[in-house]
Amino acid sequence: MAKILDGKALAATLHEEQAREVTKLAAKAGRPPGLAVVLVGADPASQTYVANKRNACKKVGIYAPDYNLKSETTTGELLSLIDTLNRDPAIDGILVQLPLPAGIEKEAVLTRIAPDKDVDGFHPANLGRLVAGEPGLVACTPRGVITLLDRSGIPIAGKHAVVIGRSLIVGRPMALLLLNRDATVTICHSKTPNLPAMAREADILVAALGRPEMIGRDYIKPGATVIDVGISRGSDGKLKGDVRFEEAAAVCGAITPVPGGVGPMTIATLLDNTLDAYRHHTGLSTH
Ligand code: GUN
Repeated sequence: MAKILDGKALAATLHEEQAREVTKLAAKAGRPPGLAVVLVGADPASQTYVANKRNACKKVGIYAPDYNLKSETTTGELLSLIDTLNRDPAIDGILVQLPLPAGIEKEAVLTRIAPDKDVDGFHPANLGRLVAGEPGLVACTPRGVITLLDRSGIPIAGKHAVVIGRSLIVGRPMALLLLNRDATVTICHSKTPNLPAMAREADILVAALGRPEMIGRDYIKPGATVIDVGISRGSDGKLKGDVRFEEAAAVCGAITPVPGGVGPMTIATLLDNTLDAYRHHTGLSTH
């Protein structure tokens, strides 16, 4: 039976470490770290994600003012809020929850966030740094996956990683992070022929396609590490990943469950990114 990579337990450990770090740094800086979480509209899934993010901030001592905007908000209004937050010295990170309502220009919004406050890592300046292998803020989910692998003692260098999915939020940055850690990386997507054969080459398989329970036994090399980034709600109301868990767990070496795997790591990493931005703004480091 495969080892379960318990993201929920690791995230709880990380939150304890972060809380200690916040106490230590805030005493020196004279202020806590600040993260503005902006929600536009009333998408129920987004409301849940945003509530989880704000609660996690409060738990570790990060100042996290709420910005809940109505769904009729214009691009101009959102841009002017971002300008205000960019100038606010109490704010280290700005997160605009996606998806935005139709009619708001997403690119204009994401590129308006100051790159040093871009805790989602979606700004082209941060994406460019990632491509170049330079330090910068990196998208939370893929960075969280690397943390989960590292803290679980799973080596990356020299391994063959196959990433299924090429989104800006997960697939692309995931592939680059693995490459920057000396993995050999293959990126697959919906147009890739013979996906199971490609996936079976993977020592580390990252499933980020957003197709519930598509990945079964025939995609998995015995002993591989399987990271399931997918999350959708089935007709039975249960959360489902992209991987058929029981089937995969019978062949692989280690696997993340859904829920309780990658999801909690995304939030823990958002706080790590906020702390990185705070250290940068205050000139403080732990060491
Ligand atoms: N929606 C789904 N995932 C994310 C994320 O990582 N960041 C933001 N801002 N919105 C999301």
